[in-house]
This record gives sequence, structure tokens and C-alpha cells, in this order.
Amino acid sequence: MSAIIEDLIARKIFNNRGEETIEVDVITTSGFGRASAPAGRSRGKAEVVYYPQGGLDQALKKFDELIVPELAGLNSDFQEEIDNTLHEIDGTTNFRIIGGNTAFAISLANAEAAANSHGLLLFQFLGGNTANTLPYPLGNTISGGQHTRGKAPDIQEFLSLPHGAETFLEAASANAHIHRKISEILKKKDKLFNGGKSSEGAWIANIGNLEAFDVIAKACEEIGNEMDFECGFGIDVAASSLWKEKEGKYLYQRDGKSRDAGEQLEFLLDIIEKYHLIYVEDPFHEEDFESFAILTDKTRNCMICGDDLFTTNNERLNHGLKLKAGNSIIIKVNQIGTLTDALETAENAQSHGYTTIISHRSGDTCDWHIAQLAVALKCPIIKTGIVEGARIAKINELVRIEHFLGSRAKMAKLKIT
Ligand code: PGA
Ligand code: ZN
Repeated sequence: MSAIIEDLIARKIFNNRGEETIEVDVITTSGFGRASAPAGRSRGKAEVVYYPQGGLDQALKKFDELIVPELAGLNSDFQEEIDNTLHEIDGTTNFRIIGGNTAFAISLANAEAAANSHGLLLFQFLGGNTANTLPYPLGNTISGGQHTRGKAPDIQEFLSLPHGAETFLEAASANAHIHRKISEILKKKDKLFNGGKSSEGAWIANIGNLEAFDVIAKACEEIGNEMDFECGFGIDVAASSLWKEKEGKYLYQRDGKSRDAGEQLEFLLDIIEKYHLIYVEDPFHEEDFESFAILTDKTRNCMICGDDLFTTNNERLNHGLKLKAGNSIIIKVNQIGTLTDALETAENAQSHGYTTIISHRSGDTCDWHIAQLAVALKCPIIKTGIVEGARIAKINELVRIEHFLGSRAKMAKLKIT
């Protein structure tokens, strides 16, 4: 089947926060692909620029004027060529001319169109016959930091990871139970708790950081016992948003505490040990590779993960690899712009033994491509929330993939057990 691009269409749609974002259709001679871009709130400084000057309207204009004439007629099978063309049209290192989100939506829509042109699902097209491993869902249960408006923990995310589950469906079900259990515990703990949720569908409660640990620990233990498998948990500190450059300290407003790098390290080591955390994302600000390396060296059976630290950027990853900063990496394709760039970073990370965690953004659409990418890229974990439409779109897509694979489906192996 031929997969020559006949047309590309871009439009403005909305994400789950009601913010405008870009959606792209790629139409080939025998297939069709559609993808839309997400948006972060606690973005890494090294991420590509989402839209050119003039915003989304300008991006749509440039799409018609600069991009469509270049891409129409190319073969969608050649993802690298498509992505390189996007880089060439843009001509900058951070997609500030056409917009990183424009590049993202085109890149993903093209991959989808190519797969569809060959009658394949995206994970089959990209991953081939060996792509039969399902990721564990890492789900946000309690929100804090920049994902809330104060009166909540400073730590951005309290995340459950039901790593003892034997199937994806079972793991997703455990997360849903943990999420529900947490609301019951919060109702008792916080008299003013009204069931409010963040954009990622995690609860927002008027509790401190340590209280939040107690809540998630209790919920994971109870649900783990009920379901008869291990449910671990961890956090995304998103430490860049706590970091006060001038003072050289991390400000924990809720707890009325400031911690310098050394104190932050001690604090993290304490909570990792006390709560048996299996996952810690962005424990230090995005330029402190050295502290990441120290924490990684001092911990066992805990994923120390870089999100803002690496921003899915292969050069930043290479710097981290040299210093042994972290042992895990968040892969967010729209941090870097194209699928080819993200694949390069993910493969580099995996070849160095890093755990790759494919991830949504806090502002997201019902686009489910990261579910397909999780299987295609053999990512052992997907971070995509537990409830809320944009999260469920991805969870349900993985349920479908597991169903489709039938007896060939197996769960990923994690490095924490
Ligand atoms: P985001 O943050 O708001 O940038 O998507 C999520 C995260 O830090 O993992
Ligand atoms: Zn993060």
C-alpha cells in the first residue's frame, strides 16, 4: 500500500483545561492519521517553544504557508525524513519558528497515517512483532505545587504504581481503587475537602506534604491487600518549581521550610526510606545533575527520574549519563518536538539501562498516541493519571491493546523488584 501524503490539515481545538491547542490530520493515498498536542504547566526550561511569536494563530498560518507545500508528496513511511524536513523548515534548535507543538502534532499524525496506510496499529507499525509488552500505569492521586493554587502539598504529584499486577487491566483497576480510597481518607482528614481535582484528575486537599505520604501509603497498602498484589508509590517533586535561585534553597511553603541542596538530599533520603518510595521524579532543580547523581548513588530499588532535568533531549541525557544522574527518564514527545528525536533519546536511555517512562502533560487532549508509543517503545511505565477524560483515553487504549494482543500480551519487567 502506498503512503504518499496527499494533504495535511491543521485546526485549533481545546485541551482539558479549555486552552487552545493544535490538531493535525495527515491524509495519505491509502490512510489517515490525526494527532493533537498537549501542554505542560510545570515546563522544563530546555523544552522546545510551543508556538511561534503570535501564538497558535501564527502557527496555523505558517502551517499552511511553509509546511504543507514541503510535506505534501512525501512518503509518510519515512518518519525520519518527515521530521528532518520539519527541522529544516524551522531552522532553529527549539522550533521557535513553526512551534514545537506544531511539529509534534504533524510528527505523530504522520506516524499514525503511515501505520493506518498499512492496515496496522501504531504500536505494530513502529514496534514490530516484538512489541507485546504492556507498561505499568503510574497514576497521579494527590496534586500539589504548580498543579494547584496553594493550600495543598508543595510536592507536585503523589503517584501510585501497582507493580505487582499481572495484567494492565488489573493494574489500572488497582489505581482506580487507590484513587477512590484516597478520597475516603481525605474526607476524614480534611474537613473542607470537597472532592476538588486538578487537571490531571488527582485530588486537591488542604494537607501537608508528610500527611499526603501517610494518605497514599495507607491507600496503597489497603488496596494491595484487597487485590493481593504489591502497590507501590512515589512522587514527582517537580523541584524546579520549589527552587529559589537567589537564596539557593527549595521553598516548601506549605510546611514553612526552606532546604538547601544538602538538606533537600537528607529530606529525600529520609522519606524514600520511611515510605519505601519506588519512584522519585525531579528531586532537584533542572540544572543540578550532580545532586541527582548523589541521590541515585545513595538509593536502591528506587527509580530516580529526570523530567525537567532531561526534557527528552538527547544532549541533556548524554550529560546526565556521564555523571550517572538518575536511573530513569520521562519521555514527553512534545518536550523535544518530533517522534524521531524522542525515539533517539528513549533508545539511548534504554541502552544505558535507564527506565523509560512515557508521559502525558497536565494539559492534555483525548489523544491516545502515548499509549501506543508505550508499547512500541517498550516503555515499562506510562505516567498518565488515573481518572479524567484525557487520562482515561490513554488508559483505555492500553486496555484495548492488551485485549488485542490476547495471550501474547505480557507485563513489563521493572527494576525495583
Ligand atoms: P506538566 O508537568 O504540567 O509540565 O505537564 C507534569 C510533570 O511535571 O510531570
Ligand atoms: Zn514531572
